[in-house]
Amino acid sequence: MAEAVIASEARSQIAEHGYILIPEYRPSAGIIEVANEFGTPLTPWEGGLVQTLIPREEAAPNTYSGNFGMGRFPFHTDLAHWRRPPRYLLLRCLVGYRDVPTSLIDGRRLVDAVSRDILSRAIFKPRRPRDGALALLRLFEPAADGADLLRWDEVFLRPASKVADTADTQVRDWLAKTTPLSITLFRSGDALLIDNWRMLHARSPIPPGREDRSIQRVYLGGLH
Ligand SMILES: [Fe+2]
Repeated sequence: MAEAVIASEARSQIAEHGYILIPEYRPSAGIIEVANEFGTPLTPWEGGLVQTLIPREEAAPNTYSGNFGMGRFPFHTDLAHWRRPPRYLLLRCLVGYRDVPTSLIDGRRLVDAVSRDILSRAIFKPRRPRDGALALLRLFEPAADGADLLRWDEVFLRPASKVADTADTQVRDWLAKTTPLSITLFRSGDALLIDNWRMLHARSPIPPGREDRSIQRVYLGGLH
């Protein structure tokens, strides 16, 4: 399929479902080339254009691996403690396994369940100051153009108001009883493009023998 067709198909699938899985997409092409086909790659920090995600038993305390090691990662949106988190993330399989899926939950269901009102009034703060300043962030920022921003991260964000305490409890309870979608990146080149302002994602636990799982990630600011 021509690249332009793939990009427009991805855009409409993501608008509808919040993500698209493209199996074995151009396995011999690099992730930067693939990312450029779909949108505009971001460099979130110096040297961070392409991040390689490998399970680690121990890591820095400000990372998910540092908190959860080989265990299950809780549902979150990426870089939720940033004022403006990256809009999309592209995950691409280098080495994957059928029994290590990535789980997704459509945040629109969460917004419907907890309510736009509570989520947009819920003020959270990052666990640690960023650039010396402690930002106050709403869990939900509605936008007139439909590009609503939902953020959630139970590790890096803490409730900072009474409504936020309520929202925190309700979101956790809802997530605990919600059945996620299970997406498996297991073939070389499998590509998963996610709307990070809408979908929550989580990684399964890593069973013994799966420690060489290797997934590349690139953030995109927008789609073509
Ligand atoms: Fe993540």
